[in-house]
Amino acid sequence: MKTWTVLDLVEWTENYFRESGIIATPRLDAEVLLGFVLQKSRLQLYLSFEMPVFPDHLSVFRQLVQRRKEHTPVSYLTNHREFMSIDFYVDSRVLIPRPETEILVEYVLDRTSTHGPISLVDIGTGSGAIAVSLAFNRPEWYIVATDISIDALAVAKTNATRHQTQIEFRSGDMLSTLESVDDKFDWIVSNPPYISSQDYKILPPDVRNFEPKLALASPPDGLQLIRILIESAPNYLKPNGRLAIEIGKGQRLDVEDFVHRSKKYQKIDFIPDLSGVARILVVQV
Ligand SMILES: C[S@@+](CC[C@H](N)C(=O)[O-])C[C@H]1O[C@@H](n2cnc3c(N)ncnc32)[C@H](O)[C@@H]1O
Repeated sequence: MKTWTVLDLVEWTENYFRESGIIATPRLDAEVLLGFVLQKSRLQLYLSFEMPVFPDHLSVFRQLVQRRKEHTPVSYLTNHREFMSIDFYVDSRVLIPRPETEILVEYVLDRTSTHGPISLVDIGTGSGAIAVSLAFNRPEWYIVATDISIDALAVAKTNATRHQTQIEFRSGDMLSTLESVDDKFDWIVSNPPYISSQDYKILPPDVRNFEPKLALASPPDGLQLIRILIESAPNYLKPNGRLAIEIGKGQRLDVEDFVHRSKKYQKIDFIPDLSGVARILVVQV
């Protein structure tokens, strides 16, 4: 029987993924999955290319490769996703945190480096990516994280505990969960679902068939929850408090219109992503 080495497996799997239509990052996917099975980082994997892989590991790896071939996201197979250099537990109950959301977190950290303790709420926390990475970097802040999905909150709590952060979790619809909080907040942040019904239908299968629809879609036009946040956030913000929301490509003009119509904000900014597209709205009351 053939003895498979690490390099054999990586090369075979890369080709197999390519032929099966897993074309975005077939080599990376193969390396991450094999590293996961062998409990090695990618660097360690490179240093072990000639190492034989034994049948037990081979059989686990084969199962993961089959599930990846059926488009299961790698992060759901490994239950890991790095966000803001922090290792998050993820599974199919939550959206896999995306790099563009790091722009929002970095912006908030950057704008608050010289301030004292701050109160902040993260609406639609999902895996806790935003709330946990902020709490990790700013342990003195008072942070509330909410979600309408009880399942998502369970994952966020796992991540908060894993990284020893103090966060108050609340379940419920958008800002209604803040009714019983006495104080107002310095910041409200959110990465809400913002995909229209039309765009939802053409999402790649890795996303549409695996990530929670509740975390992605905001029918019908993708703008419903963004509009609610813009309209109601001022009721929960301190004077000069800020609202920062991730928005989708092409939503800038509509979002600008909501802000102007609300007549409740004195400043409006859009933070671009690396390709220059406005991805984060920041408004100040
Ligand atoms: C795009 S995901 C963001 C998850 C996480 N904050 C991140 O950036 O990776 C949106 C989250 O909002 C939650 N959500 C959807 N509708 C909601 C609503 N009406 N009220 C509160 N949370 C909601 C979903 O369950 C999901 O966890």
